[in-house]
Amino acid sequence: MDRARELLAKFNSRFRSTAKVYRAPGRVNLIGEHTDYNDGFVLPAAIGFSCWVAIGPREDRKLVLYSENFDESVEADLDNLKVHATGKWADYPLGVAWALEQEGYRLRGANIYILGEVPLGAGLSSSAAVEVSTGFALLDLANHSIELSKLALLCQRAENEFVGARCGIMDQFVSCHGRAGNILLLDCRSLESRLLRLPPDVDLVICNTMVQHKLGTSEYNVRRTECEEGVSQLSRRLPGIRALRDVSIVDLETHREVLSNTVYKRCRHVITEIMRVREAASAFESGEIGILRRLMADSHRSLRDDHEVSCPELDVMVELAMHQAGVFGARMTGGGFGGCTINLVSAAESDAFCKRVAQGYKAATGYHPNIYVCKASQGAEMVESGEIESGVQSQ
Ligand code: GLA
Repeated sequence: MDRARELLAKFNSRFRSTAKVYRAPGRVNLIGEHTDYNDGFVLPAAIGFSCWVAIGPREDRKLVLYSENFDESVEADLDNLKVHATGKWADYPLGVAWALEQEGYRLRGANIYILGEVPLGAGLSSSAAVEVSTGFALLDLANHSIELSKLALLCQRAENEFVGARCGIMDQFVSCHGRAGNILLLDCRSLESRLLRLPPDVDLVICNTMVQHKLGTSEYNVRRTECEEGVSQLSRRLPGIRALRDVSIVDLETHREVLSNTVYKRCRHVITEIMRVREAASAFESGEIGILRRLMADSHRSLRDDHEVSCPELDVMVELAMHQAGVFGARMTGGGFGGCTINLVSAAESDAFCKRVAQGYKAATGYHPNIYVCKASQGAEMVESGEIESGVQSQ
């Protein structure tokens, strides 16, 4: 049975009614890390792991959420949704319901069954996948139509204000707008985006280090504050700048003395990374992807040494990848402090790549890595709207 029919059956056996099924994917970022919250550019792709949501209406104004991953139910009242993060999975769907209602979208009470297949805590945006799929489902159930970019912004608001993670717009945007076979060049200031074709003989190979260092979210928020501090100090010399996006590397070097060494390094990462995204996008456009090897290596180094968001396990994984045949580029991906690397690998070599990197990583760290060979995939969609005979049991 395919995933959507499976979800309908499970929903039916739990809630004894019919449902519609929605899906939104996780993502991987090829280059442009920690640039989104600086109004910069990013180059992500949606991946073939999604969060699946089955939803059916209720007569009252309650949300009854069930997560299969956590085998737990949570109830909330749409008339009494308060910003009250608990640190648990339900913060994400409830945060989205809150953000939609705040924006004036009156929702309906609903039963919701959630099944996430994006690996959790791996830096592949399982949270954006939950937010976007739930938001999409809640809006459709209440007959609201919405522009996908607006849905992405409201999901980001849920994460910023309800969950308390000050993430940028990249993850939610690509979960909404991803296209099969394409990466997305996104201008995080204007939200203009362009699809760039990923050569069909190149696989996106994602290597999960299987570690997630605890300080992740708080250090992420610190990086944002440091970048804001950089803008605030530099604006004394460069009036009119709004974000690090507006500062050139020459400007940064010229006015370096107004910054602490740490803030200078954070700014240098962001400014050079934005330059690398532009170069990478041109390389994809002209089909000359050989240059990605250097760009991705520089990106990793800059994230490790200037932004200081890598960790030994990510560094080992990248180092191993760079020695394999058929590799067009390798670097850490996502917020950092553990999680995954992204590797562009010739499809003909990806099996051998996975085997050798897994062996090398196990030998170096003792962890057995999960490695996923992905293609760029499709963004959020309604996948199934159907009756299923009552009484069907879950499989
Ligand atoms: C996390 C955030 C994104 C982005 C990346 C780093 O995934 O959710 O908004 O900032 O980190 O590029």
